[in-house]
Amino acid sequence: MTTTTAPSPVLEANGVTMRFGGLTAVRSVDLTVNSGEIVGLIGPNGAGKTTFFNCLTGLYVPTEGTVSYKGTVLPPKPHLVTSAGIARTFQNIRLFANMTVLENVLVGRHTRTKEGLWSALLRGPGFRKAEAASHERAMELLEFIGLAHKADHLSRNLPYGEQRKLEIARALASEPGLLLLDEPTAGMNPQETRATEELVFAIRDQGIAVLVIEHDMRFIFNLCDRVACLVQGEKLVEGTSEVVQGDERVVAAYLGTPFEGAPGADELAEVEAAEASGAQSTTSTEGKAQ
Ligand SMILES: Nc1ncnc2c1ncn2[C@@H]1O[C@H](COP(=O)(O)OP(=O)(O)O)[C@@H](O)[C@H]1O
Ligand SMILES: [Mg+2]
Repeated sequence: MTTTTAPSPVLEANGVTMRFGGLTAVRSVDLTVNSGEIVGLIGPNGAGKTTFFNCLTGLYVPTEGTVSYKGTVLPPKPHLVTSAGIARTFQNIRLFANMTVLENVLVGRHTRTKEGLWSALLRGPGFRKAEAASHERAMELLEFIGLAHKADHLSRNLPYGEQRKLEIARALASEPGLLLLDEPTAGMNPQETRATEELVFAIRDQGIAVLVIEHDMRFIFNLCDRVACLVQGEKLVEGTSEVVQGDERVVAAYLGTPFEGAPGADELAEVEAAEASGAQSTTSTEGKAQ
């Protein structure tokens, strides 16, 4: 008799498709993230990774498909997705530049505080109590990411790597069960990248599942239990780091080498054929001119 319990899905994307006019940026993507997992999402620029995140978080309403969090289908509204338990960071840092580090984290907490508008305006005892608790939790999170000593600094004065960490703290402030990270180490030096790796492990150890987009393959393969590779909006390969690392289609996708059956390969072949015939006629014209 087996005693292992089946991993329970935190996130389930089913057949998610996102079209912009004639462009299909994400095509029928299925992806599951289970409790306790760190899952990586890789793929060349323009593959549809950020668009997929936007579909998961309600920023975009998918053309087709559903997104479920812990078994419940999510309405495609960012605030409802956040209060359900999904938090994210952005590929381009989105902090309030003129707020302090602490204030930025407090902003992330507002979905979790129950105090109403009047209570806040009148600054009654309930509000002050909630505010004190929020403040304490925000400081705890700053401690966790190693920025407590800069709580009063304006966020715009932080070096880039620390701004990225602060974004993670702000996302954690909504007390998520799933954290989505869009290129968390972009622009970081190798030490900062390694520290971010440790931070993501620590987040996972606190019971938060993680889905991370990143171009740094060493980071991805060290960190992730599973990796999915998107190419031209389609999920090409999914598996353990070893499986994905050894898959020649993934290598080909990054190097831009077309392979048989690749998404868009037929179109690419047509374009190449057209270009080749165009080039030939140019050459022959030049030949005549000589
Ligand atoms: N709001 C939008 N309107 C039109 N096209 C978009 C929009 N967002 C993304 N795209 C297109 O979708 C494709 C995928 O982009 P993106 O998801 O940003 O890729 P990645 O994050 O993998 O680099 C690109 O061709 C991009 O131009
Ligand atoms: Mg992107």
